Amino acid sequence: MNSSLQEEILKLKDEKNAIILAHNYQPKEIQEIADFLGDSLELCIKASEIEDKDLVIFCGVDFMAETAHILNPDKKIVIPDLEAECPMAHMLPEEELLKAKEEHPDAGVILYVNSIAEAKQHADTLCTSANAVKVAESLEQDKILFGPDKNLGTHVAAKLDKEIIPVPKDGHCYVHRLFHVEDVELKRNEYPNAEIICHPECDIKVQEACDKVMSTGGMLRYIAESDKEEFVIGTEIDMITRINSEVPGKKLYPLLEGAICKTMKLHTLEKVKDALVKEAPEITLPTDVAEKSRKAVQHMLDVSK
Ligand code: 13P
Ligand code: SF4
Repeated sequence: MNSSLQEEILKLKDEKNAIILAHNYQPKEIQEIADFLGDSLELCIKASEIEDKDLVIFCGVDFMAETAHILNPDKKIVIPDLEAECPMAHMLPEEELLKAKEEHPDAGVILYVNSIAEAKQHADTLCTSANAVKVAESLEQDKILFGPDKNLGTHVAAKLDKEIIPVPKDGHCYVHRLFHVEDVELKRNEYPNAEIICHPECDIKVQEACDKVMSTGGMLRYIAESDKEEFVIGTEIDMITRINSEVPGKKLYPLLEGAICKTMKLHTLEKVKDALVKEAPEITLPTDVAEKSRKAVQHMLDVSK
């Protein structure tokens, strides 16, 4: 780290008794100033443990910052750019989930943490890509309404003897939808010694063509522990930035250079500094929505222990 802006941010952060949390898809300059970097589950766990900080600067997308707010209703959770939304999270409106629940009254309800808080409040539990199978196993029902990511739902269905009903029918991430089986074949030819890892938000055919499927945090741990040297990474491009900075000596190749989550990149150092100075824009939710969705978040955290 060497920019004066980064130094300024670190100074301000101490003065304000703030903590900076950032997702693995943040650009390098933000990864460098974060107190904690992680995948969605790791960020949820970290948010549940914040005790001695007055201000949380959350460099991620809306549903992640909302989850931090749900777990810390008395703390100020600030997101440097309020426009940083996850389009997939908005693919399941509250009304559509309520309608599906009416149609399947005997089904358990699991929502991916990538969902809006208004929908989360009607779920039995939440999951992330790191714990989806474990969470689905923990429900007694054999029939499960699962949303909004159809691909993660199919990933769970392939591992368990449970009926997974996707809600909506085709919820997806536009970034992970960019990967195709042909990309996997191309990289296999180009890098015959590399292991190919993708995220469960990819199409199930892409998942089947890869060697391993895991969350972003899972990728980091797996590569750090592996004797292998070369990996092709099938997720957002800045995951490679994170792994490179923590696991030196590996050769990492993107499955696709253009896999960029545009809203994750809305946060900049300038906006982080502004967020610290102004303590805004703050993430808030109606109290009843935050309270009702806390139950589902807490269930997921308990199952993940
Ligand atoms: P992870 O929990 O694996 O970091 O995934 C979050 C996400 O939004 C992936 O697109
Ligand atoms: Fe949402 Fe996809 Fe971006 Fe992840 S990569 S935050 S699922 S849009």
